This record gives sequence, structure tokens and C-alpha cells, in this order.
Amino acid sequence: MNILSPSVLAIDFGHMERDLVEAWEAGANTIHLDVMDGMFVPSISFGMPVIKYVRKALPEAFLDAHMMVQNPSRYFDDIIEAGADSITIHYEATDSVKKDIELLKEKGVKVGVAISPDTPVSCIEDIIESVDMILVMTVYPGFGGQKFIDDSLDRIKAVKKMVDDKNLNVNIEVDGGITLQNVQTVINAGANVIVSGSAVFTDDITDSVKSFLKLLKECD
Ligand code: DX5
Ligand code: ZN
Repeated sequence: MNILSPSVLAIDFGHMERDLVEAWEAGANTIHLDVMDGMFVPSISFGMPVIKYVRKALPEAFLDAHMMVQNPSRYFDDIIEAGADSITIHYEATDSVKKDIELLKEKGVKVGVAISPDTPVSCIEDIIESVDMILVMTVYPGFGGQKFIDDSLDRIKAVKKMVDDKNLNVNIEVDGGITLQNVQTVINAGANVIVSGSAVFTDDITDSVKSFLKLLKECD
């Protein structure tokens, strides 16, 4: 099944609860939370208090924390405690990716590993069997509202081939520059978890979410 995961980074923080509830009621059931540390990526976004707030606003939602954080294991306990159901770490942000994956599994959350646009897909070959999700970044991590990198399509296809060849049940997530115009192309390439920030939190959130869900359903 294809899943839409709106990214809170693009929300109007002055009306956060209202806009979260609108996205939820329109049919989004997963929320993507971009945690940036100002080290792994140039920008700083938000951390535990905001995740806690989202958890309180949407008690039923599945919350995926996308940690753009150097040495992410420092914060696993805090992020889980704040309410995350799933944690996605960056392959490039840790020297102990296998250990981090095992640690997250022990803690009982779903585990994702993200690869930035310059990281060869082959890097995930020996970890793909131990994760729930691979996030193929379709922009350089760090900022919302960037343009989708076209080369990403071949990368998504390569990950999909790896998943199929090994007969795995691993989600393939895409994040960055996803719009109503290109979403079906990324799904056809093999992605099934679709993150979108600026194309979801528009002036008409309900309409944006419903339009995305319609396109996602057509590809199911
Ligand atoms: C970028 C973040 C994204 C971002 C996507 O580093 O990981 O989740 O919010 O925003 P859009 O959909 O606007 O490109
Ligand atoms: Zn993200």
C-alpha cells in the first residue's frame, strides 16, 4: 500500500494543531518529523518538544522521526519518549549503522535508514535485510521546498530491485521535492512511502492531501 507522510517542516507553526488535525482528517495517517541538528545538515529545525506536541495533537498517528543528526543514537531514548513510532537515521551520520539499527530494534520502534543523493545505493546492500524502511533522499537533506533531483529515479529503482531480489518486505520512502506532478513517477519507480512538505501544507491542506491520496490509490 502507498502511504502519504506529510512533513511537519512545512507547517504553519502558528496554527500547528489546527493544520495537523486538518491533514489527519483528510486522510494522512503517518506524520514525518524532520529533526535537524545544525551539524549533519546546516539547518536546525526542531526536536523533542515539538514531537511531543504532535503526539498530543494526534494521539493515533504513526510518527516517523527523520533524524538528520550526527551520531543519532545519542537521542534515541528522548525521541522515542517524545512519541516517535519509527526512527530513520542517515547512513552518512553514523560510524556504527549496524549497531544503531540493532539498538533501535531493541527499543521496539520501526527502523529506517536514509541515503543522501551522493551515497551509492550499494552501501545499503548489507543492512537492507535488517531495516523496515529505506529512505531515498530526492533532494540534499536540510531544507524543505527544494527541487526534486531527477537522478533519484534510477536510485529508487535500484533499491526496489534490491528489495525484490532479496524478496524483502521493506518500505521505500522518498523525501524532497515531491509534488502532485511527480508523485506517480516515483511510485512507478518503486517508492511506496511518500513524504511531502510544501505540496501538502498549502492554503488548502484538505484538497492537497486528498489529491495526493487519489494519485497514490491509482498506483496501488
Ligand atoms: C528535507 C526534509 C524534508 C522536507 C521535504 O531535508 O527531509 O522532509 O520537509 O520538504 P518538501 O516536500 O517541501 O521538499
Ligand atoms: Zn525528511
